Amino acid sequence: MKNRIALALAAALFSAVPALAADAPAPAAAPSPAAAAPPVDPRVAASRAVVQEMGEQLKGELIGALEAGGPAKAIPVCQQKAQVIAGEISQKKGWKVARVSLKPRNPANTPDAWEKQVLEQFDARVAGGDGADSMEATSETVQDGKKVFRYMKAIRTAVKPCLACHGESIAPEIDAALKELYPADQARGYKAGMVRGAFSVTQPLP
Ligand code: HEC
Repeated sequence: MKNRIALALAAALFSAVPALAADAPAPAAAPSPAAAAPPVDPRVAASRAVVQEMGEQLKGELIGALEAGGPAKAIPVCQQKAQVIAGEISQKKGWKVARVSLKPRNPANTPDAWEKQVLEQFDARVAGGDGADSMEATSETVQDGKKVFRYMKAIRTAVKPCLACHGESIAPEIDAALKELYPADQARGYKAGMVRGAFSVTQPLP
């Protein structure tokens, strides 16, 4: 028992100071990622920035609502704010910015054919053991006769608070609030680390 605690402590200390970890890969073995990375496509960079802005706004609303009244009270906030935030950012940029899921809670978040295909690829990667935090996909295509650039970034149920409203066992008062607002809710039964959905950005191209 004591040993296990000591090991855990050592692991924590060494991971905080990676240079001291005995089995860390020799730094000279691999070129530094910063030096090797190709320049980022500006359309991807712009998509990432928009997704980050939307994610931060959603997180801010969610944390505020959870702190103010717990998950049951936070549900109406998610319902009212999520679509408004997506709409405001879309309008500001003149792009389409949304969240989509293979098992949407809000039917407005149902994926189209490309989004569905990408979400299935993200799921397959996680099933194959991919622990990546930021799985992404892009596509250049034509929509309604106009050239567009599309970008998606996976949203994972990485943190426990997500499971209060999207997990396998949902508390009765949360369950009741969800059933009232979302009679067709599919967004349940998730475990930590699964792909809950994705941000999806569509930029018109010149
Ligand atoms: C307080 C309950 C609650 C918590 C906690 C919560 N969600 Fe949700 N989630 C909702 C509601 C309600 C919606 C539907 C929003 C709407 O109407 O657009 C939703 C929708 C979503 C969607 C859009 C797709 C869909 O199903 O309609 C994603 C993606 C999502 N949540 C991910 C997460 C993640 C990741 C976390 C943890 C960081 C999380 N949620 C935590 C209640 C919650």
